[in-house]
Amino acid sequence: MSERPRTSQKASRFSESVIREMTRLANQYGAVNLSQGFPDFPAPRAIKDAACEAIQADINQYAVTWGAKPLRDAIAADFTRRHGVPVIPDAQVTVCCGSTETLMATMMAIVDPGDEVIIFEPYYENYGPDAILSGATPRFVQLHPPAASGQDWTFDPDELAKAFSNRTRAIIINTPNNPTGKVFTRDELTGIATLCQHWGTIAVTDEIYDHILYDDAVHVPMAALDGMADRTVTINSASKTFAVTGWRVGWTIAPADITGGIRKVHDFLTVGAAAPLQAACAAALALPVGYYRDLAAAYAARRDRLMRILTNVGFVCYKPRGAYYIMTDVSAFGFPDDVALARHLVTEVGVASVPGSSFYHDRSAGKSKLRFTFCKKDETLDEAERRLEKISVKLRT
Ligand SMILES: Cc1ncc(COP(=O)(O)O)c(C=O)c1O
Repeated sequence: MSERPRTSQKASRFSESVIREMTRLANQYGAVNLSQGFPDFPAPRAIKDAACEAIQADINQYAVTWGAKPLRDAIAADFTRRHGVPVIPDAQVTVCCGSTETLMATMMAIVDPGDEVIIFEPYYENYGPDAILSGATPRFVQLHPPAASGQDWTFDPDELAKAFSNRTRAIIINTPNNPTGKVFTRDELTGIATLCQHWGTIAVTDEIYDHILYDDAVHVPMAALDGMADRTVTINSASKTFAVTGWRVGWTIAPADITGGIRKVHDFLTVGAAAPLQAACAAALALPVGYYRDLAAAYAARRDRLMRILTNVGFVCYKPRGAYYIMTDVSAFGFPDDVALARHLVTEVGVASVPGSSFYHDRSAGKSKLRFTFCKKDETLDEAERRLEKISVKLRT
């Protein structure tokens, strides 16, 4: 008898996304969804109008596979204006279906089976499957929680240096960081850049929260550091900056030869991102700078609000300096682990979070942590506060 059909070994080496599963559970239990990082407030009117206009203007067929020219031009001009790094749109920019696809296409384009890829941990959960599917062997370097308030997450430079070898094909850096809220400093990035140059490593930098910064935090793009434009793949997306996570438009800026590889993989993965939405994203990149100032200010207010809500009911919060998540320590609640507490919160209290273990390859390392997002409107946070008030009573009695 022939063997039962089975999935590939690759596909069996990772599980479904815990974050997306928490959203499904939130829907099932009518919970306030502070798990998945999608805004529940409207996207800017101007860019929604631009999308409608593009459809009415019949921009409805395949765009050029590596991205419609107006969008690639806008991406290149925006990066050069903000960071002073020259970018040739025809040779260096590739538009994909969200940064999720850009990451996969990049990894498939640059990694050979057996190559090592360094990943800071805790990490955005897609990096694990991206490494597995591209055949990379991940090497994890720990980010340590801040020792005192006012400090950021840190890594040990010696541990990082030891992770590099002549097999290190790439390092993935996510700044501002999900889930920790860490914003890598210029000094830290310079240290990483020196190691990349020494070992011939490509820096893959996921910068999709680059406009969401708090207090005095400054975003430093790796490609702007001396000698790094030639060995950096910068990843970004419209999802977070313009509150359009469902549009699925993201992009890479990379040296021409690497771009050639990314474009080939991207073409055969998805052909292209939605053409009318690419037109609308070009319009989004023309929004005035005031838009970005307001965006960061509104998120700062939401961050402070959720910090207060969570702290009041007993969570130990690590204050983020960027992005829109709060990592918390939940040891004090006395639950067996993060998954049990997250499940309790979603089913009994009606608030969805993400178990910390989903951000660690060694699940036990995250079992005292939960992540909450605050990319939500005031009413959503009000409701979360009302519900969480109940748990503090329940869990403490
Ligand atoms: C760090 C990071 N990278 C990538 C993504 C995926 O973004 P996109 O919607 O552009 O695929 C997310 C989404 O939460 C994220 O947090």
